[in-house]
Amino acid sequence: MLNYLLTEEQQMVRDLARKVAREKALPKRAEWDETGEFPWEAMRAFAAADLCGLYVAEAYGGTGPSVMNFCLATEEISRVCGGVGVTFAASALGAVPILLFGTEEQKKKYMPAIASGSKLAAFGLTEANAGSDAAGIETTAIKEGDDYILNGTKQWITNGGEAEVYSIIAMTNRKKGARGASAFILEKGTPGFGFGKKENKMGIRCSATRELVFQDCKIHKSQLLGKEGMGFIVAMQTLDMTRPGIGAQAVGIAQGALDEALHYARERKQFGKPIASIQAVQHILADMSTQLEAARALVYATARMIDAGHKEFTLASSQAKLFASDAAMKITVDAIQVLGGYGYMKEYPVEKMMRDAKITQIYEGTNQIQRNQIALALIKENASKK
Ligand code: CAA
Repeated sequence: MLNYLLTEEQQMVRDLARKVAREKALPKRAEWDETGEFPWEAMRAFAAADLCGLYVAEAYGGTGPSVMNFCLATEEISRVCGGVGVTFAASALGAVPILLFGTEEQKKKYMPAIASGSKLAAFGLTEANAGSDAAGIETTAIKEGDDYILNGTKQWITNGGEAEVYSIIAMTNRKKGARGASAFILEKGTPGFGFGKKENKMGIRCSATRELVFQDCKIHKSQLLGKEGMGFIVAMQTLDMTRPGIGAQAVGIAQGALDEALHYARERKQFGKPIASIQAVQHILADMSTQLEAARALVYATARMIDAGHKEFTLASSQAKLFASDAAMKITVDAIQVLGGYGYMKEYPVEKMMRDAKITQIYEGTNQIQRNQIALALIKENASKK
């Protein structure tokens, strides 16, 4: 592994997340993958280890704010299990809109419980007809006096049903398109707010992916995040901030796969010698490691840029998510190749890692959307120089 010159604090966070993940998630990951059981046991252990508020300032109950520490923890957890990794990361995704756009009162009300891990958060943007086209959402929030009345259905919401706090994007004025969206904080248990079935997924199977259903769900105007009409900006700036976390999840999954491939290659003998001594295998391992380090470097550089207070990081954030998730897909497929027939069997974890890796190319914006974002940001950057 390259030396990323981590500070003592960063090393402590990384080592702690690694230890807790290995103790609590490793023995259960295959079972959770099989049954789809939500990993509360692991989540409670992360909370007890004070790992849930790394990206949150102390004023709001956290131990940060540090996107880098959050990425290090997400990586180590995902190295063990991508499903637990996204459960951990998606709570931050639900909380970041409150941190970025919440009033002091909203932050003080909601953040301490999320930062302590006693409550999970979730982010509700996607709908059946609005995936990549995020401005196409149809859920409405119609103002009636001091309240908004929500109607509609959100789809594929990570932590849906398990989270207590939801950041929801809904249309307050459908005629205005992206500028007619608004963001709200919603609490589980609000009348008119229910959940659809838990999805049966290819990978990250222990994570909860549910529909959020709003039927004349009344919420007070004090639950609005930012101003009316700012919902799309809330969503986009949130994703800019959290996409490196998906990059970190991908790096973790890929590292887990490389660990397995290396271990197997040293143990497995063919032609009278460990396959790790065969150049054809060595080249696969060398490529896996090189792609992994390039992905990790991009994720860490982006996290450090955000922590240093840079305002413009859409480009870096999309590049980190894009490159790390594509690398994770390739690395996990290669790990199966190194393990050969055994890699294809459920007795070994690499087939799960490949299934878990696939979604990182899709969620928090498909990699095609990331390429669009990168190209647009590049052109904008170039135009501003002329
Ligand atoms: N920061 C600030 N403002 C931004 C912005 C950004 N990064 N990106 C766009 N905006 C602003 C634009 O400037 C524009 O403002 P004006 O109207 O004032 O000009 C407005 O937002 C609309 O922007 P666009 O015209 O670019 O919008 P668009 O409709 O063409 O869509 C898109 C752009 C980038 C494709 C967007 O729809 C998108 O990001 N799609 C992907 C959605 C996504 O990532 N979903 C993930 C769901 S969460 C998830 O998956 C989590 C999970 O389960 C773990």
